[in-house]
Amino acid sequence: MRHLISPLDFSVEELDRLLDLAGDIEKNPAKYAHACDGKILATLFYEPSTRTRLSFESAMLHLGGQVLGFSSAASSSASKGESVSDTIRMISCYADICAMRHPKEGAPMVATAVSSIPVINAGDGGHQHPTQTLTDLMTIRSLKGRLDHLTIGLCGDLKFGRTVHSLIKALVRYDDIDFVCISPEELKLPSYIREDVLEANGKHYQEVERLEDVIGNLDLLYMTRVQRERFFNEEDYVRLKDFYILDKKKMKLARPDMLVLHPLPRVNEISVEVDNDPRAAYFRQVQYGVYVRMALILTLLEVTV
Ligand code: CP
Repeated sequence: MRHLISPLDFSVEELDRLLDLAGDIEKNPAKYAHACDGKILATLFYEPSTRTRLSFESAMLHLGGQVLGFSSAASSSASKGESVSDTIRMISCYADICAMRHPKEGAPMVATAVSSIPVINAGDGGHQHPTQTLTDLMTIRSLKGRLDHLTIGLCGDLKFGRTVHSLIKALVRYDDIDFVCISPEELKLPSYIREDVLEANGKHYQEVERLEDVIGNLDLLYMTRVQRERFFNEEDYVRLKDFYILDKKKMKLARPDMLVLHPLPRVNEISVEVDNDPRAAYFRQVQYGVYVRMALILTLLEVTV
């Protein structure tokens, strides 16, 4: 039995197969409409979510399966003190596969020790978000035609943004990726990503503060929200929250084929005036998230169509 806790749980070859499957699902959805008849997905969300939880549910429903779950710790017995380990033992009796989001780093990993069903990490604290990474990879591969030879700008909260950490881990395995890390001093990448992932893999990266100085060099700009829920005090959040606002003026400095991605939710960091720019790919990214989660469910349940 396999779980997905980190984007590195799949080899590059396995990722390619998963993205090929997601691409086939996109082209031939009817072929997969009953692939998971009789199967149940549990969504265990101890933290708020719109996209991840609902895209998992949509994915399972599109495969003919069913869903159950909870959308907050407060509405589960976690509020009475039940541990993640005990909860997952119960869920193993109710469902065939589960997706878990938790504010504590490592909670989905803890669940795998006692689970008798595949566990998918749907985001653990400031740590990782591997299914957002699958979504990002599918978006990049579909819209750019490749996952190598790219200059990628990562902009915003690089300290707490788990989507950025997961994406970097996945992308260092591809050739000729240049990372341009754009953040204020206080929100720079943590050393366990900068040193243990980028430097350990010999990747070229630079750290800059001004988006305007580098936007013209990018194939892809990955914007992120400042993660209010991970700050220790509100004052720091208020000071940093609008540090970057991507608007039409800045988009004029970018290449005509530069893509803008964002895991969403967006707050102020992308002005709505950018939404109609053909380079804005963040809403298309959401649709890819459903196809890739369908492919992931099929892969972990070992369902072949
Ligand atoms: N991208 C993402 O994880 O969004 P949600 O927090 O709404 O799930």
